[in-house]
Amino acid sequence: MTAFATSSSAKTPVKVTVTGAAGNIAYSLLWRVAAGDVFGPDQPVELTLLEIPDAMQAAEGTAMELADSAMPLLKGVNVTDNQRAGFEGTNAAFLVGAKPRGKGESRSDMLEANGRIFIEQGKALNDGAAQDVRVLVVGNPANTNAYIASKAAGDVPAEQFNALMRLDHNRSLSMLSQKLDAAPEEFSRVVVWGNHSDTQFPDLTYAQLRGENVSDQIDQNWYTEEFIPRVAKRGAEIIEVRGKSSAASAASAAVDHIRDWVQGTDGRWTTVALPSTGEYGVDEGLVFGFPVIGVGGKWQVVEDLEINDFQRPRIDANIEALREEAKVADALS
Ligand code: NAD
Ligand code: LMR
Repeated sequence: MTAFATSSSAKTPVKVTVTGAAGNIAYSLLWRVAAGDVFGPDQPVELTLLEIPDAMQAAEGTAMELADSAMPLLKGVNVTDNQRAGFEGTNAAFLVGAKPRGKGESRSDMLEANGRIFIEQGKALNDGAAQDVRVLVVGNPANTNAYIASKAAGDVPAEQFNALMRLDHNRSLSMLSQKLDAAPEEFSRVVVWGNHSDTQFPDLTYAQLRGENVSDQIDQNWYTEEFIPRVAKRGAEIIEVRGKSSAASAASAAVDHIRDWVQGTDGRWTTVALPSTGEYGVDEGLVFGFPVIGVGGKWQVVEDLEINDFQRPRIDANIEALREEAKVADALS
């Protein structure tokens, strides 16, 4: 490990592992974590960059650049291709390393290529991570990869495994903000139910702008024909226009996710994909996007919401899609 002296505080550093550390998302994510955007401005961090052997040299280059950034909170950087060493004692793991889809592919097409990665990483987390580890799966298909990792880490409570749907949530806020000419933070009670896939349901049933119902300020046609499909297909739109999949926005969403998990949301709703315990009719264990608030370092699913006839089939389509993905995942070894 390359260790750096910091004068920032006497706090014990938080150990953070980022897989796929030589890739596009990590190139943005690592700097945000090291800058204190996740764990706070007085919390030192130690980063472990986990890669595959072929990408070790590139990961070493990324580590050199981290060192060259002379960041006050960065206590040390470790680069490894050994899974067990990569997760030893880790408090937070961003599981980014996986193949992105290309033009015309669906995220679930990546399950065969990527799913096995999360069996091995789940086992390594089980064996070596800190008891309080928080795991955020970013690599696609993120929900089912989190399901796979959680199953492989039988001793780690399932609730410690999440998948990233904050990007879908942020996309919803951004689109609303452009439509209604208001800042993203002025909206509340937005949720994206389900799977990080085209079936996802960005739901405005409960949404408010400065305390007033959003549904009274938009027309139904825009909601069903533009908002829902555009948010759900935004990943493909980015691939089409940019030529490769979203990276900085994904890193930013991952930062938002773990920051809110650790620091709480002060009553604000956000979207997190987490293992269901049966809420809203979702099969136990499926990793599903729910409305949540962050309290005391844990997520609480917002419960007892009334689900109407517009919402139910859209939520059910996601349950069905995730059941199908789980069948494929269960057959991987
Ligand atoms: P990338 O190809 O730029 O980087 C991926 C990196 O992962 C590569 O460096 C590769 O060597 C590494 N890797 C592969 N297998 C690994 C393993 N077993 N252990 C450690 N590292 C491994 O891809 P990217 O743009 O950074 O995207 C990464 C993943 O994130 C993709 O699956 C992409 O689809 C997904 N993604 C998810 C979201 C989301 O919202 N959930 C958003 C954007 C991208
Ligand atoms: C996204 O939503 O941008 C990512 O999941 C990348 C993709 O494949 O769409």
